[in-house]
Amino acid sequence: MYNFLQRLSGVTSFAMSTLMALVVVISLTTPFIPSSPTFDVSLHNVQTTTGRAMDPFDRTSRKAEYARLTFDLDADLSTMFNWNTKLLFAYMTVDYTSVGFDTNRAVIWDRIIRNKRQAKLKLRKHHNKYALRNFGLTFDDVDGANLTLHINPVPYLGVMYDKPLVSIPFTIPRSSKAASSPGQV
Ligand SMILES: *[C@@H]1O[C@H](CO)[C@@H](O)[C@H](O)[C@H]1NC(C)=O
Repeated sequence: MYNFLQRLSGVTSFAMSTLMALVVVISLTTPFIPSSPTFDVSLHNVQTTTGRAMDPFDRTSRKAEYARLTFDLDADLSTMFNWNTKLLFAYMTVDYTSVGFDTNRAVIWDRIIRNKRQAKLKLRKHHNKYALRNFGLTFDDVDGANLTLHINPVPYLGVMYDKPLVSIPFTIPRSSKAASSPGQV
């Protein structure tokens, strides 16, 4: 005969197994919930100055070439919120190749989007939030670059993944060596 505790144990272990199966199903299916984000990035111009960046996070702030981008961003990411979305992490990267380094990636802007209301982005003539300089201190050996908008949906349950939405190619101009006044970024 089963007593109460044996029954309770059976019910609990059944509940736990069901819960585990549910967790796995939710984690695996969330990335496939359809969404229809709209987005548009336009790059107005890229200016390069030589100088020292006033960057509170970079105490090494050396004299270097810094690129300053001016861009517009229009996006409506509200359809990317579903019942398993905690937040969206939106960020923009500049990717380029240089001599000796096939992959260079710098994050120039980011934002944490916590709800559908914040998911409508409309930035006009916006500049990079973070200073952009090459590892080699100048952009001399850099030909082309790509500006890419990425979204990381952060789920309550499951894995985070990177979703690049739009990528636009551009060139980083040289700063004229004569005008090497201390520049701001
Ligand atoms: C920019 O992106 C395009 C398309 O993905 C790629 O073909 C190109 O090599 C990229 N350019 C650079 C400099 O990374």
